[in-house]
Amino acid sequence: MPMTRREILLSACALAGTPARLSAAQSRDGIQQPTPESQAPAGAVSLSDFEALARERVPRMAFEYISGGAADEITLRWNRESFDRIRLRPKILVDVSNLDTRLTLFGQELPFPILLAPTAYHRLVHPEGEIATVRGAGLAGATLIAGMLATTTIEEMAKAATRPLWFQTYILKDRGFTRDLVQRAEGAGCKAICVTVDSPVVGVRNRDQRANFALPPEMERANLKGLMRPGGNLRPPEGDIYTPILDASLTWKEIDWLRSFARVPVLLKGVLNPDDADQAVKAGASGIIVSNHGARNLDTVPATIDILSEVTERVAGRIPVLMDSGVRRGTDVLKALALGATAVLIGRPYLYGLGVAGPEGVRRVVNILQTEFRIAMALAGRPSLRSIDRSALWLYRP
Ligand code: FNR
Repeated sequence: MPMTRREILLSACALAGTPARLSAAQSRDGIQQPTPESQAPAGAVSLSDFEALARERVPRMAFEYISGGAADEITLRWNRESFDRIRLRPKILVDVSNLDTRLTLFGQELPFPILLAPTAYHRLVHPEGEIATVRGAGLAGATLIAGMLATTTIEEMAKAATRPLWFQTYILKDRGFTRDLVQRAEGAGCKAICVTVDSPVVGVRNRDQRANFALPPEMERANLKGLMRPGGNLRPPEGDIYTPILDASLTWKEIDWLRSFARVPVLLKGVLNPDDADQAVKAGASGIIVSNHGARNLDTVPATIDILSEVTERVAGRIPVLMDSGVRRGTDVLKALALGATAVLIGRPYLYGLGVAGPEGVRRVVNILQTEFRIAMALAGRPSLRSIDRSALWLYRP
């Protein structure tokens, strides 16, 4: 009889002598403190394997919150389908014995063009929360963009970091608090500020609603102490759409305001429209992140990979263009770079790694992706980042 995916993973864990810890069913309806594991299971060899393991091991409410997308999850599906539809166009007989994946971004040397996107509430999946993530990012040599909605303060994260962090912020209704937070992040050594501009309100998240998602009261939004009480939900009461802290009145004026005091590069996160990308350059943004927020905000916006080239063409090299949403394979990284991205971000995959095996899980996830990327470069005959351009693709025309 053919084995199910779960059985394959279980047997691989057994072979590797790794505790599979798949018996957490009794706690799957509530938030539990998963036991951190020092070893990621050897049977998990791709990012989707980590997702499958996380589905088994992470409390159900947390898994639904992390994996879910907005409304009918149509964009969530497109984020994957669109990457899959793009065909690569390899070149043969190119010397690929010496691959170079290094890049310099805002004066910072990165060993490969993959960063960890800002995500909220890491204590939902690991008792040490963001501290474990920071450690995993350090082990992997990856830059982590620390999220404003962390369950650990930015100062504690920076103390545990072995590489410079970046910081993601929303512009809150309380401007003084926002300014203090940005200055705290800079004071803690963060090398860039990513201001998320795609969320004047929170998207329709039926999956969260059905799973009754709420941050457990013992967890707090550590950076927002004094502004929000611990636990609860950012979601407004039924019938309302505005959250208590996010400011729905934001315009380009607030970007000027943020830039007036920020001492590190400011990137706008959540750009899709090429006109907005152009305006971001004119507004003095140091970079943009093309993102549909992992399909968690406005359902039926396109997959980012489908509109990336329109944006990069409009920006025309004036500032770096990063992208995220749906990156799961090394070939995806190659495709994004071929369409003009400077680097990519991953969100959910490292959270699955964190939930499955703590810092080591984060390290494994990043390591798998960057190894796959190097294999893709070698097999496509593109030995350096500079050599990855449109000619690496056979673009799909429906
Ligand atoms: C996010 N994302 C996000 N973005 C942001 O700017 N501020 C935030 O607080 C969060 N929180 C958050 C929580 C969770 C659980 C997820 C999955 C995502 C979006 C994130 O930065 C990134 O844009 C997407 O995760 C990228 O898509 P993939 O890689 O998850 O498909």
